[in-house]
Amino acid sequence: MKRKVRLATQDDITKLIDVYSEWQKFKGILPDQLIEVDTPEGLKKYFDGSNPTRIYLLAVDEAENPLGACYIDTSFLKLSSIRLGDMMVKEKNRKQRVGSMLVDRVIEYARENKVKKVWLWSQEELKSAVKFYESKGFVLEGRQKNQFCNKDALLFGLVL
Ligand SMILES: CC(C)(COP(=O)(O)OP(=O)(O)OC[C@H]1O[C@@H](n2cnc3c(N)ncnc32)[C@H](O)[C@@H]1OP(=O)(O)O)[C@@H](O)C(=O)NCCC(=O)NCCS
Repeated sequence: MKRKVRLATQDDITKLIDVYSEWQKFKGILPDQLIEVDTPEGLKKYFDGSNPTRIYLLAVDEAENPLGACYIDTSFLKLSSIRLGDMMVKEKNRKQRVGSMLVDRVIEYARENKVKKVWLWSQEELKSAVKFYESKGFVLEGRQKNQFCNKDALLFGLVL
């Protein structure tokens, strides 16, 4: 099946929420605050120009069904650094290289914009994600104590 990664627009907010609703499957594994699903109102600001710090990427199949998503946090773009946020591939689409397509697009954006560092936060409970990031060349750079919700976070980085 043909799949692609493209920039998400305001018209894709429902598709993003569909993908991110899968965070609810981590209930009881991660704190509730970390798996809260975005609302249309919460996402709108990243598309209407009022908060330009996020670029959302959406993976879709040929019928435009959403498969996965992530965003690029451009807050530190001027300092040659971007953060990869909220990577999620829908459960039924995992292990089919959808996550790889998304990360590859983030790295492509980084190279196009002369970014030297791509970094992200993860959690030790997300075992597949840890393996996934390592397979994509990210290195565990540290464990941040009580970073979110009184819980440690894993810091991963990729130097370009
Ligand atoms: C992590 C995640 C995004 C990976 O997406 P994916 O599309 O399944 O990943 P890919 O198919 O591109 O996998 C690429 C490589 O990552 C590694 N990998 C991915 N999932 C893995 C798993 N469950 N176990 C071990 N290695 C895994 C493998 O090396 C794989 O290469 P291979 O297919 O040749 O074995 C997906 O599992 C997911 O959405 N998980 C839930 C949400 C999450 O944890 N997000 C991270 C937030 S920080």
